[in-house]
Formats: sequence, C-alpha cells, structure tokens
Amino acid sequence: MTGVRLRDVTLADADLLDVWAASPEIHGEFNDFGPPPQDRSPIREALAEGPLRNEYNGQLLIIRLSDGTPVGSVSWHAVSYGPRPGSRAWNIGISLIPEARGLGYGPEAQRQLADYLFETTDANRVEASTDVDNVAEQRALEKAGFAREGTQRGAQFRAGSYHDLITYSRLRSDP
Ligand SMILES: CC(C)(COP(=O)(O)OP(=O)(O)OC[C@H]1O[C@@H](n2cnc3c(N)ncnc32)[C@H](O)[C@@H]1OP(=O)(O)O)[C@@H](O)C(=O)NCCC(=O)NCCS
Repeated sequence: MTGVRLRDVTLADADLLDVWAASPEIHGEFNDFGPPPQDRSPIREALAEGPLRNEYNGQLLIIRLSDGTPVGSVSWHAVSYGPRPGSRAWNIGISLIPEARGLGYGPEAQRQLADYLFETTDANRVEASTDVDNVAEQRALEKAGFAREGTQRGAQFRAGSYHDLITYSRLRSDP
C-alpha cells in the first residue's frame, strides 16, 4: 500500500523549506553540503512564478497520505552523456525528516519520482548516486526498482573531503 505521494512546492511551503535547510538532522550526514545561502529571497521569487521545476532541475515535496504532512523532498537535475538531447538523463536525490525514515517512504517516493520523470520527459535513464556507506539509501533504491551499477571514486566533495559514491539507475524499459 502507498503511504506517500509527491506534490509541487508552493510559496506557502517556503518557511518549511527554510527550517529544513537550516537543520543538520534533517539533511543527514550524507547530505552535509555546508550552510545554505543566506539570501533566501530567490526561492520565494521562483515560487511566486510557479512550481520549482524546469527543463534542467526540479523539486517535489513528499506528502504522507495519512495526514497530508510534508515529510521530505525529492529533487532532480539533468546530467548529459553526449552532445544531443537524447543523451540527457536525470540524477535524483531525496531527504526525509528523521521521524519519517525507516518506514518505506523513501523507496515509494523514489519509484514515484522515476515514474513521473519517464511520464513527463523523453529521458531514457534516471540515476541516483549515494555514499558507499549510505546503506539505507542503497536498499531504498533497490526496493524502488533501481539497478546497482558501480562505484564512482572520489566523486562528491562533502563535509570537507571527497567521497566515493555508488551509482544506481532505472531505464525506461526496466520493469
Ligand atoms: C535514505 C532514505 C531516503 C531511505 O528511505 P527510508 O524510507 O528511510 O527507507 P526504508 O524505510 O525503506 O529503509 C531502507 C532500508 O535500509 C535499512 N536501513 C535503514 N537505516 C539503516 C542503517 N542506518 N544502516 C543499515 N541499514 C539501514 C532498512 O532496514 C531498510 O532495509 P530493509 O527494507 O531491507 O529492512 C532516508 O532514510 C533518508 O532520507 N535519509 C537521510 C537522507 C539521505 O541519506 N538521503 C540520501 C542521500 S544520497
């Protein structure tokens, strides 16, 4: 049974996003990319124009179905494997608030995001990379139907040093 759905971010969510952005516990150690920008007006300006998604990147909130509460967010950005649009893929990310972890929401949200990106774009590939030590996200991606591909050495600069990542993918033709 589904416990979460995805929805667009609205201007009314801006304060919540600020709280999440300022909280190390909500980011978790594997999303520790340093303090957020001090000037928070750009996100409000963008939200005043419409949802946080365009042809290059996007973000959706993860909503718990039982009470309608936002419990995290998923995001994506374009990565290119060749000079033409046909080689463009999506790289996705996720963060759940601590009390919403360990309940199976992460696999559901990432499966729904991949489905959404295949439905709304021409991309053939949705990928995700996570730290070699982030076992929970590796399991979550496997449960979301992603295939493990291999290690990207020293790919991510985070918390003061370079980290190896494990890459996963779902292709449009995957079951
Ligand atoms: C990673 C994350 C998205 C996973 O989503 P989730 O809803 O918590 O995932 P699940 O509840 O399905 O649990 C995933 C699996 O990891 C296991 N797990 C959870 N925490 C674990 C830990 N610290 N070490 C090892 N395994 C762990 C669970 O037992 C489960 O495996 P199982 O189904 O075989 O029992 C979520 O925990 C989260 O947002 N974490 C913080 C942010 C983060 O790390 N984002 C990803 C950055 S790339």
